Amino acid sequence: MSNLYDLKNKKILITGANGQLGKALAVALLKNGATVIATDLQAESETTHPQMTYFQMDITSKQSIEAAAKKIGEVDVLINNAGIGIFTPFEQRTEPEIDQAMDVNLKGTILCTKIFSQKMLEREKGKIINIGSIYGVVAADKKIYGDSGRNSSEIYGATKAGVIHLTKYFAAYLGEYNIQVNAVSPGGIFNEQKPEFVDNYIRKTPLGRMAETSDVSGVICFLASDDAGYITGQNITVDGGFNLNQ
Ligand SMILES: NC(=O)c1ccc[n+]([C@@H]2O[C@H](COP(=O)([O-])OP(=O)(O)OC[C@H]3O[C@@H](n4cnc5c(N)ncnc54)[C@H](O)[C@@H]3O)[C@@H](O)[C@H]2O)c1
Repeated sequence: MSNLYDLKNKKILITGANGQLGKALAVALLKNGATVIATDLQAESETTHPQMTYFQMDITSKQSIEAAAKKIGEVDVLINNAGIGIFTPFEQRTEPEIDQAMDVNLKGTILCTKIFSQKMLEREKGKIINIGSIYGVVAADKKIYGDSGRNSSEIYGATKAGVIHLTKYFAAYLGEYNIQVNAVSPGGIFNEQKPEFVDNYIRKTPLGRMAETSDVSGVICFLASDDAGYITGQNITVDGGFNLNQ
C-alpha cells in the first residue's frame, strides 16, 4: 500500500486490533500518520508503536466499552473491525454459536457506535467504518469448502448483512451531525488456507487471487481521510469481483 492519505491529527480506534486484519490495519493507519487506539479482548497488544496505545475492551459488554471509553476519550474515527466467523455446517448449528455471532458482530457494533459516537455528536464531526463481509452481500457457496466439513455459516452471513444495514441506518441517523458511516466488505483474505480451498475460491474470483490485508486497509485509510468527506452509507466490496460470479 502506498502512503497516500493524510491521517495526521486523527485519533483512530480499531476494535479487534490483534486479529489478522486489525494488525495490518493498525500498521497502515500508523504509516499514514494516524494516532491509533488499538483495542481487543487480550491483555496486551500484538503491535507496538509510539503512536499507538492499546486498551483491553470486550465489545459485547457495555460495561467494558464504557470503562475503556472513559480512558480513551474522544476519537475521530471508529473502526468496528472485531468480528467472529462460525464455520460449522448449518445442520450442526448450536444456540451458543448463534448467540456469539449476534453478540460480537451485531450487538458489539451497535454498542461501540452508541458509546463512541457520543463525543462525535457533540463535536459535530466523526467517521465510523464498519467491516462487513462479502458473505453479507452474497450467499456462501458450499462447494468452495469441498469435503472439509467447514462452511461459511448462515449466521455469519446474516450478521454481516446486518452490519451493512446498520451502516445505512447510522449514516442516515447521524448524518445531521456531520458523521459519515461506511462499510468495507472484504472477500476472503489469504491466510494459509488449504490449497484446495484457495483453488476453488479463486476460480470464482475474476481477479484470480484471494484478498491481501493491504487490499482492504488502503480502502479503509481512504474512508478515514478527509478525501472521503462526502461519502456516507456506502458498502465498498473489496473482493476482486467475487460477487460478480454468484
Ligand atoms: N479474514 C477474512 O477473510 C475476512 C473476510 C471478510 C470479512 N472479514 C471481517 O474482518 C474482520 C476482521 O477479521 P479477521 O480476519 O482479522 O479476524 P481475526 O479472527 O483474525 O480477528 C478478529 C479479532 O476480533 C477479536 N474479537 C473477537 N471477539 C471480540 C470481542 N467480544 N471484543 C473485542 N474483540 C473481539 C479477536 O480477539 C480477534 O483479535 C471481522 O469483522 C471479519 O468478519 C474477514
